[in-house]
Amino acid sequence: MILGIPKEIMQGEARVAATPETVKKFVKDGFAVLVETGAGEGSHYYDNQYAEAGAELVADPKQLFARANLILKVKEPLFNANENMHEVDMMHEGQYIITFIHPASPVNHEMVKKLAAAGVTGFTLDGVPRISRAQNMDALTSMSTCAGYKGMIMAADDLSYFMPQMFTAVGMLKPANVLVIGVGVAGLQALATAKRLGAVTYAMDIRPAAIEQAKSLGAKVIESGVPAEMAVGEGGYAKKLPEEWIRKEREELNKVLKDMDIIFLSALVPGKVAPILITEEMVKEMKNGSVIVDVSIDQGGNCAITPAGKKEVRHNVTINGIKNIPGLIPTSSTWMFAHNVYHLVNYLVKEGRITLDMNDEITRSILVTHDDKIVHEGTREAMGI
Ligand code: NAI
Repeated sequence: MILGIPKEIMQGEARVAATPETVKKFVKDGFAVLVETGAGEGSHYYDNQYAEAGAELVADPKQLFARANLILKVKEPLFNANENMHEVDMMHEGQYIITFIHPASPVNHEMVKKLAAAGVTGFTLDGVPRISRAQNMDALTSMSTCAGYKGMIMAADDLSYFMPQMFTAVGMLKPANVLVIGVGVAGLQALATAKRLGAVTYAMDIRPAAIEQAKSLGAKVIESGVPAEMAVGEGGYAKKLPEEWIRKEREELNKVLKDMDIIFLSALVPGKVAPILITEEMVKEMKNGSVIVDVSIDQGGNCAITPAGKKEVRHNVTINGIKNIPGLIPTSSTWMFAHNVYHLVNYLVKEGRITLDMNDEITRSILVTHDDKIVHEGTREAMGI
């Protein structure tokens, strides 16, 4: 079986789907591996290292797509401006692809239809279920870990004060207060990072289990005022709250906002638009020079005035809505991503062939297109099929 690792073409995307280390493992497992020239440069994994690991370097992406049986990518297939051709048009009947397809998102519907029409079997990494058996394949969790860490470092960098308490010859400076709202994977990592930087940390979430984890990281709890039976749904995930409860949560937040130096926003209900927990009026109440980092921006943001994809100062508060934060620590995020993909390939490929076990939850959740059809339930629902 031939694996193809193209260079990512989304602007500013430094990650790549394999490292020299995972290429070496694939080759040992019996795969042939094609890597596009320069594919790993942005993450500081270089052509000579891939070659030493046993990959064949291919300069022309069209050739790489034509020769591979299974394409491994970070971002969904896009239009390649250099080649004047969509990546899906480089693919062929019977081929497989593993990547973040984000198939339910309306902007990707046309591309998913093209994938199905081309006879490509697509597996999406954002479908990997959060079950223990699939943990080592869960790239979404890996990327949230990166976003939590790097997002907090970015917040600290934009803050106009020290994070830790400082004792100086002219007096003591108080440590920064950091509030993380939504302490799932990204939020817990953000809390841990803020703690290491010396801040006093606060956490708010609507799931009691998440609050317990935040406490174990030394965070103080800000009560959301939402009863647990309202908050927790199937599989232990958070439920979408009715507007009246979101309003109640905002009231609780209003009591503490002016004491906070950094607010890290990572509250999300899977598959839904992010709840708006901070309004423009609330931003006006915040301290001068304080910082909001809103990592839920891909789902619309938890703050009403977060600028999508950039950073702005509004009402003397720096609000950061930068997307693709994992791409800002590309060596680590690529390392994690590549290992997740390696485990997923191992799960799917038996004796040199991909076998689909539709009785298995993992296969059912990640399969998007197969046999010229769109088979992913959430995507069919979103497309009204
Ligand atoms: P997660 O599902 O693990 O955590 C979300 C948390 O929000 C849960 O603990 C949930 O209980 C909580 N929550 C839901 N509704 C809430 C409410 N009304 N009030 C308080 N808490 C509430 O999600 P994960 O993986 O930590 O991701 C968090 C966000 O980070 C997502 O929006 C994700 O897309 C984003 N992300 C952003 C990246 C970027 O580069 N900007 C990269 C990776 C993740």
